[in-house]
Order: sequence, then structure tokens, then C-alpha cells
Amino acid sequence: MVSVRKVAGALGAEIGDVDLAGALSDADIAAIRAALNEHQVIFFRDQALTPEQQLAFGRRFGPLNIHPYVTGMADHPEVMEIIKEPTDKLNFGGGWHSDMSFLETPSIGSILYAVQTPSFGGDTLFASQAAAYDALSDGLKATLETLRAVHSAGREYSAKGQSAQKRASMQVAEAEGLAGEFIHPVVKVHPETGRKALYVNPAFTMRLDGWTKRESKPLLDYLFEHSRQEAFTCRFSWRDGSVAFWDNRQVWHYALNDYPGQRRHMRRVTVDP
Ligand code: SIN
Repeated sequence: MVSVRKVAGALGAEIGDVDLAGALSDADIAAIRAALNEHQVIFFRDQALTPEQQLAFGRRFGPLNIHPYVTGMADHPEVMEIIKEPTDKLNFGGGWHSDMSFLETPSIGSILYAVQTPSFGGDTLFASQAAAYDALSDGLKATLETLRAVHSAGREYSAKGQSAQKRASMQVAEAEGLAGEFIHPVVKVHPETGRKALYVNPAFTMRLDGWTKRESKPLLDYLFEHSRQEAFTCRFSWRDGSVAFWDNRQVWHYALNDYPGQRRHMRRVTVDP
């Protein structure tokens, strides 16, 4: 029996009494899936996962994504190593986003394991886009439900984009000319819970479908500002061996870059539908 303890009002729960490297029963996986559906991001402490064990855990939830721009581990291309070396200035994921919304079929969740954490800083923030949607007026909700948005990796992974900048221990390709544009509804209905969430994000949403960039900007800026309000967030302080599993369909996240001169090493697998 896994235990569940909420960490904030809008989202987030710490899950106890589970060894993710162990032989998890179907009932354990169902309990973890139910906790993820309800709390949108779930956290585990004191885990010890090899890349193979992290892959095996991830595969219980769906096929795993191979990132189109970030080179994965040599033997396990589905495992992305997210490393900030003491000499790196920029971290990876340092802005509000939903992983892989720039794909035609975006991921459903990401599982991040902390191999080495800095002695201070390096937390990750999460923001519930379901809570952000709930807090809107009925009028704006009704309008947003008629809209779709264009997503692309073209800005973030371009030569000037934050994601594609050089980091000592990560290989990230530039997407210029390669990144497609894909259209997703502005309001996403969760396929398992039926709960609605906003599905636009500052990193990968380019404009509203059928609108110009200039026309789109005021409404998107309003939604981005609205969606990162403190009341919709939770914050996770990592320790070596911590794991976070978030639902990209209803959560944004933001990796804080506040640990200059220290190393932070994480491994991520990303679950496709
Ligand atoms: C990411 O955006 O997947 C990275 C999150 C983190 O390193 O905390």
C-alpha cells in the first residue's frame, strides 16, 4: 500500500512506501497512476535507480520518447541526462514549459530522477494548469474552448534559444529549419479524469491558430501571467535519489537556476501516449 501526502493546495503529493526499483505489482502501478491523475505531480524520496530501472518503471506507463534534439545516453537513447556543470551558466528547463508540447503527439508525463544535487538551490517549480483553468471566468473559459494554438520547438531550440545553448555535458541539436508547427486545443481535457486544463506555455506556444502573432500576444501573455500565480504552484527541493513524476497535460514546470558553481545531474524519461 503506497502512502500519499499532499504538499500544496493546487497540486503535488509525496508518495511513500514504494521502491521504484523493485517489482511493482499492477495494483502498485494503478495506485501511482491514480495519485498522478489526482495530484498532477508526485514525488518519491530515497530511491536508487539505475537507468535500466528508470526505463522499466517508465515503461509501465507507456512507450518512452526519444528526444528529437537532446542526445540521450549512449546505451539508452530514451534516457536524457540533464546536467549543469559548475562551469555552465545556463541550466536546462529554466523557464515555464510543458515537456514536448511542440510535438504532433505530445508526451503525457516525465519522470525525473536526481543523481547528484547541489548543496543549495536547484529546486523545481510546478504550476497546475487545471487550477489555472478553473480560476478563469465562465466567459473566458467558453471562448478558450473554441481556440487552438500553434506549438513549435523552433524558438527554444533555435541557435539563439535557451534550450539549445552549449552546456559542458549535454548535447543539444539546433532545430532551425527542422522544427515543425503543431496545433493543439487551448483547453485540454484529461483523457482519464475528464478534468480541463489550459494547454499553452511560454516556451513552445507560438500563436493562436488562425491569428497573427501580434493578435495572439495579448491573450497569450494574459494566460501566461495568470497561469503562474503562486496559488497554482508547488515547489520541490531535491535530494540525491528523489524522483518527480509530472503530468505534462496539466502541469507546467520550471527548473530554478540558483546554484552557481555547483553540479546538478538528473536523468529524465518521458512517457508518450
Ligand atoms: C526539465 O525541464 O525537464 C528539467 C527539470 C529539472 O531539471 O528540474
